[in-house]
Amino acid sequence: MVQILSGKEVSRKVYSDLTPRIDSLKKQGIIPGLAVILVGENPSSKIYVKSKTRKFESLGLYSKTIYLEDSINESELITKIQSLNNKKDIHGILIQLPVPKHIDELKILQLVNPEKDVDGFHPENVGLLSIGNPRFISCTPKGIMKIFDHYDISLDGKYVVVLGRSNIVGRPISLLTSMKKKGANATTTVCHSGTKNIHDFTSKANVVISAMGAPEFIKGNMLKNNAVVIDVGINRVEAKNKKGYRLVGDADWDSIQKKVSAATPVPGGVGPMTIAMLVENTVEAAERIMTNS
Ligand code: GUN
Repeated sequence: MVQILSGKEVSRKVYSDLTPRIDSLKKQGIIPGLAVILVGENPSSKIYVKSKTRKFESLGLYSKTIYLEDSINESELITKIQSLNNKKDIHGILIQLPVPKHIDELKILQLVNPEKDVDGFHPENVGLLSIGNPRFISCTPKGIMKIFDHYDISLDGKYVVVLGRSNIVGRPISLLTSMKKKGANATTTVCHSGTKNIHDFTSKANVVISAMGAPEFIKGNMLKNNAVVIDVGINRVEAKNKKGYRLVGDADWDSIQKKVSAATPVPGGVGPMTIAMLVENTVEAAERIMTNS
């Protein structure tokens, strides 16, 4: 029987662990606050941002979404970020990605105050993670490590294959899984669009972490017996229902079921953990700013 690694369940534990920290900040007059910048009309981004801010509201935290037109020029966006950097009630700043093509993503991410970079995308935070001394760890990879920890899945000495090399998931999770640290310490390979014969790697892996955005790409015959699959993909595929689509992961659930020992479902797997880690990072940012002020 495949063990379901429920991010929904793990996230509930994260929120209950955060409650005393949030209460303690509130007693000191501080409400952790997040500013989200959303540029343009990407429908998936709109849904992600809504679920992030809704969670903040439900926990009695402060969140503010700044909706900007697709046509905004870079200097207007820069002015907005700088103003948020200086706002006392904003402890975390998140720029929802992707941004429109005419905006230089790297330049923009570097302008966020690294102490408020709850997404962990600023080069300073990426650098700290890569030398094994993280400050803010990006939310999805951090959430995946929490899932391993919660279900007592030790990566020590295991072979982990990551599919995808994005700065949001693939790169940071490859660093985290291979870090010299309890629960980590894996041997990790990153496969990507330039990898020949991905099957050769996945079939040897104890753990496959997929962040490719390729609907139902991973089949049972690509996996080793009793492998663990972490499915980061949330893909829309056409369906004959009211919405006209359904959500599927990068793994073909029917096909992998007979092969794996444990896997994250889609939805209800990694997704809720991304939001939980955003809350955790924002609380941490508020605590940090409090301690340093
Ligand atoms: N786009 C997809 N995932 C993420 C994320 O975790 N953070 C931000 N800012 N944008 C994203």
